Amino acid sequence: MKRVIEVQDLSYRYPDGTEALKGVSFSIDWGTKTVLLGPNGSGKSTLIMHLNGVFLPQKGKVFVDGQEVTKKTEQTVRRKVGIVFQDPDDQVFASTVWEDVAFGLFNLGMQEKEIKERVEEVLKLVGVWHLRNRIPYHLSYGEKKKVALAGVLVMEPEIVVLDEPGTYLDPQGKRELFWMLDELCKNRKTLLIATHDVDLAAEWADKVIILKEGRVLKEGGKDLLLEEEVLAEANLVFPRISELFLRAGFPKEKVPFTVEEAIRVLKGAIR
Ligand SMILES: Nc1ncnc2c1ncn2[C@@H]1O[C@H](COP(=O)(O)OP(=O)(O)O)[C@@H](O)[C@H]1O
Ligand SMILES: [Mg+2]
Repeated sequence: MKRVIEVQDLSYRYPDGTEALKGVSFSIDWGTKTVLLGPNGSGKSTLIMHLNGVFLPQKGKVFVDGQEVTKKTEQTVRRKVGIVFQDPDDQVFASTVWEDVAFGLFNLGMQEKEIKERVEEVLKLVGVWHLRNRIPYHLSYGEKKKVALAGVLVMEPEIVVLDEPGTYLDPQGKRELFWMLDELCKNRKTLLIATHDVDLAAEWADKVIILKEGRVLKEGGKDLLLEEEVLAEANLVFPRISELFLRAGFPKEKVPFTVEEAIRVLKGAIR
C-alpha cells in the first residue's frame, strides 16, 4: 500500500524548553482512517503542525507523498494536506462565512463561476449553507469548527487532518461529522484525526496511534483499545461500548467497538 505520510524520529522543543515531541515515528497509508490518540499535552497538536510545514522539524523528518517537508516544499505540501486546527479562531477570519470559505480559491485565481459552485457544494456538505451570510466571528464554536472544515475541504486536499474535531460539537453535530468523514473516505481521501476521545477512535479508526508524553506508546488496529495496560499508561479508558461487553465477560475477540457491531453481538447472544 502507498504511504502518504511518513514521520521519522521527529522531535520538537518549544522556546520555553518544553519537549513536546521526543522522537516520534509512524507512517500512514493512502486512503485510510487513522486516529492519533492521546491525553491532553501528549503532543498531538504539535505533531499535526508538522504535517504541512506550520512547524518544520528541529530533528527528524516528515515526508508527504514521498516529498520531504522543508521550507522549499511547504507550499506544495500545503496543497496536499489540509488541516482543521484545534482552535477555529486560528482559521476563520473573513467578514462572511461564504467569503471565508471562498478565500483560498480566490487566492488561486480561480474563475468566479467555479468558485461559486465549489463553495456552495462544500457549505452544503458540511451543513453550514444556512450560515453563509453570517459573520464567522459571531458564530458558536461548533459552527466555526464546521466553517473551518469547509474552508479546508474546498481546496480539495488529498489528506485531511482534523485536530479534536468533536470538541464543541453537539451530539447531532458529532454524528453528522462522522457521516461526512465516511463520505470523504469514500472519495479516497486519507484522514487523520487527533483526539483524546476513545469512543471516536472505536467508532471510526482503521488504525490507532497512541501518543504519550511526546512518544508513540503503541500503534495498531482497534484491538489496541482493549489493552487495559496500554490504555492506563496513556491515561485513557476503554471505549464505552467495548467496556460494557468486557465487563459482562465476553471474550475479547467478540467485543464490539460500534453500536452496529454491538447489536449484532447481542442478537447472536440472544438466539
Ligand atoms: N506554545 C507553546 N509553548 C510551550 N509549550 C507548549 C506550547 N504549545 C504546547 N506546549 C506544550 O507541549 C506539549 C504538547 O502539547 P500539544 O501538542 O498541544 O498536546 P495535545 O495536542 O496532545 O494536547 C504540552 O506539554 C504543552 O504544554
Ligand atoms: Mg491538542
